[in-house]
Amino acid sequence: MVANGSGKTALVTGAAQGIGKAIADALRADGVTVVGLDRQLGACELTADLSDLSNVKGIIEGLAVTPDILVNAAGICLTRPFFEIELAGLQKTFDINVHALLLLSQAFAERLKNEQKPGVILNIASNSGFNPKLEQLDYGASKAAVISITRSSALCLAPYGIRVNAIAPGVIDTPLTQSIAQQRSQIRGVAPEETLAPVLQAIPAKRMGTADEVAQAAVFLCSNQSSYITGQTLLVDGGQLMR
Ligand SMILES: NC(=O)c1ccc[n+]([C@@H]2O[C@H](COP(=O)([O-])OP(=O)(O)OC[C@H]3O[C@@H](n4cnc5c(N)ncnc54)[C@H](O)[C@@H]3O)[C@@H](O)[C@H]2O)c1
Repeated sequence: MVANGSGKTALVTGAAQGIGKAIADALRADGVTVVGLDRQLGACELTADLSDLSNVKGIIEGLAVTPDILVNAAGICLTRPFFEIELAGLQKTFDINVHALLLLSQAFAERLKNEQKPGVILNIASNSGFNPKLEQLDYGASKAAVISITRSSALCLAPYGIRVNAIAPGVIDTPLTQSIAQQRSQIRGVAPEETLAPVLQAIPAKRMGTADEVAQAAVFLCSNQSSYITGQTLLVDGGQLMR
């Protein structure tokens, strides 16, 4: 059987670990040729720091082949109390989670438009973009921006045959989630497990999701099987937030 993604190429950011890596692996399993990008090399083909915004458009322009798919999975989450939020951290969160994502999307869409080629953009948002979480004000704001950008981009790029969707994961078992639990444990003076336990208890599925469960949804949204879906943000969160 021919895989769905056969003959297609994807650029996946944040592909060294966690959700980005799982998406890169799942797309490869679907037959897609994947170029993984990260600030740490890991199993990636490209290293770049997306917080250096002057370099971001050049990443797409420098690719030998125009990809069919762009997955914006790189992201950071600074965890701190409301009164400790400062401009530098806010700026860094938005530079990586929002500004780099938009610049990559623009450069990608520009190449597709010039070549009259259809394509797909998939943004990894978060259910924090819909509902607030303690100690994550700037992260939630950046992910709300990603959800809005997804909708606006879908509207603007539909005439060029470019679909744009997002996934909003809930609590997924990745290095980021472990690091958030560590930071919260320091802020609250409790063990990391104690910061996670009440959150998991409130999730209907009663557990964290796996990066692979997010990746399966990503493969669908990147494939022709979702050819009439655009501008949507799919919650993959075990029912934590029902809309
Ligand atoms: N883990 C979760 O529970 C969860 C929930 C909702 C949304 N998300 C989102 O999913 C995405 C992936 O999260 P994850 O949990 O896999 O995180 P992670 O920290 O485990 O992996 C993120 C990857 O992005 C890379 N990255 C970060 N900043 C970068 C930069 N400036 N330039 C290049 N690469 C950079 C990191 O090196 C890392 O490999 C993020 O956008 C995150 O906000 C995660």
